[in-house]
Amino acid sequence: MFDLLIRNGMMVSTDATIRTDVAIKDGKIAALGLFEDSVKAERVIDASGKYLLPGVIDAHMHVEAPFQGCFGANDFFTQSVSAAFGGVTTIMDFTNTFPGDSVMVQLDKRIEEMSKSALDFGVHCKFVEAPESILKEIPKIIARGCPSFKMFMTYRKEGVMSDDDTLLKIFKLAKEHGGLPLIHAESNAICESNIEEMKRKGTLGWTDFAEAKPVLCETEAVSRAVLFSKYCGNALLLVHTTNGPSVDIARAAQAEGCPVYVETCPHYLTLFKELYEDKANGHLTICSPPLRTPEDAETLWRHLADGSICVTGSDDCTYSRKEKEMFLERGADGSIVPDFTKVVNGLSGLEVRLPILLSEGVAKGRISLNRLVALTSTNVARLSGCYPQKGIIAPGSDADITLVDLDRRWRLSADTLHNNIDYCLHEGMEVTGGVAMTIASGKVVMEEGEFKGQKGAGRFLHRSIDEEVLSGYVL
Ligand code: URP
Ligand code: ZN
Ligand code: ZN
Repeated sequence: MFDLLIRNGMMVSTDATIRTDVAIKDGKIAALGLFEDSVKAERVIDASGKYLLPGVIDAHMHVEAPFQGCFGANDFFTQSVSAAFGGVTTIMDFTNTFPGDSVMVQLDKRIEEMSKSALDFGVHCKFVEAPESILKEIPKIIARGCPSFKMFMTYRKEGVMSDDDTLLKIFKLAKEHGGLPLIHAESNAICESNIEEMKRKGTLGWTDFAEAKPVLCETEAVSRAVLFSKYCGNALLLVHTTNGPSVDIARAAQAEGCPVYVETCPHYLTLFKELYEDKANGHLTICSPPLRTPEDAETLWRHLADGSICVTGSDDCTYSRKEKEMFLERGADGSIVPDFTKVVNGLSGLEVRLPILLSEGVAKGRISLNRLVALTSTNVARLSGCYPQKGIIAPGSDADITLVDLDRRWRLSADTLHNNIDYCLHEGMEVTGGVAMTIASGKVVMEEGEFKGQKGAGRFLHRSIDEEVLSGYVL
């Protein structure tokens, strides 16, 4: 007797779409096949007309993360609820490391904080400096199941930038011990000097924010990070990549076989820098790197399809309007006085990532459903080191399944999302495709618009990245 039997669905993997039933027992996929009626389960789910995707993994999000004076609108439980509505079954966040901190201590703290999650979770370790005491922690951190290291190439004044020395030292140890650096690539020299000049001139509007961090600000850092990784021989993931020239640098390295992986996020595919022209709301779209142009987005879509961008993440930072505005001054009429230096960077995306990729990607013919599976689950699992426990529907894997209705037409709106804020950057956008049910570790956590999971049900994921992924470009 199985716990759960999903009948009549179409199962999607990275290279095939097949009709199969899925049997689940003790949180794992027990068997696949077209079962006789005599096969029984505690619960049978009729998935006629639905597609079964390996549970979506969001390996890039920020919750309960002090940054630029803000903390975010959610905790790990409420964000895991929102994630479940977006078809997400596994989440990964970062340690809150600041100078002087032991990363290992921060890691233990983060595991504790994330334990509220209803979904399984992993932790990336953030490095901001590399004294001997921190470097010594790296093998222990990897042995603890956290082989991915986040580093910022900017935010010097916020105290979280890794300088070039730090990058090189961490890259070398990542190579030696099986780690994967995740790089926020923006040239601090370019954006910081631009911002200083803008402060002197008093040009700090929302559109100036995008000017302070042009494409070249990103490509300079991307090329430096890629050259460092070639020098050290380590693998690299360039997170939240926004434009073709940056992807081209990675592609050239990939063509030489270098393990330079690229991520992009739903907002760079669907939101554009014209939004900064809206004086009343432009600050809500301030994120780093900034939004770019529709042409940049089309280039990203092409690279999502051709394999040079191999993963997507939401980079979710859900800040309430109040938090976005808390340091801004107001004029006599109560309206905001624009000053982008006083607005926390980051925007929400956890719950909309899959619907956006289904609608703007699959329904519009830019990517296949199989490619979507690679970009939202299988490649994310391989790159973060939890495959085949996650990222595939196969016997022995965790029973993480997202049931999708490709024909569902609905609108993204603050009213239809569950992320604890009262605005939606995609307000009113019609999407084709939605999540009918989310199953995490064999339990239905979201069904017919209702959350059914449990606070604290998520388990810490002990990850280890395959040498094949780290030693050459394989995704
Ligand atoms: O603007 C962003 N992306 N904020 C979140 C932190 C980061 O850079 O990933
Ligand atoms: Zn970043
Ligand atoms: Zn991020």
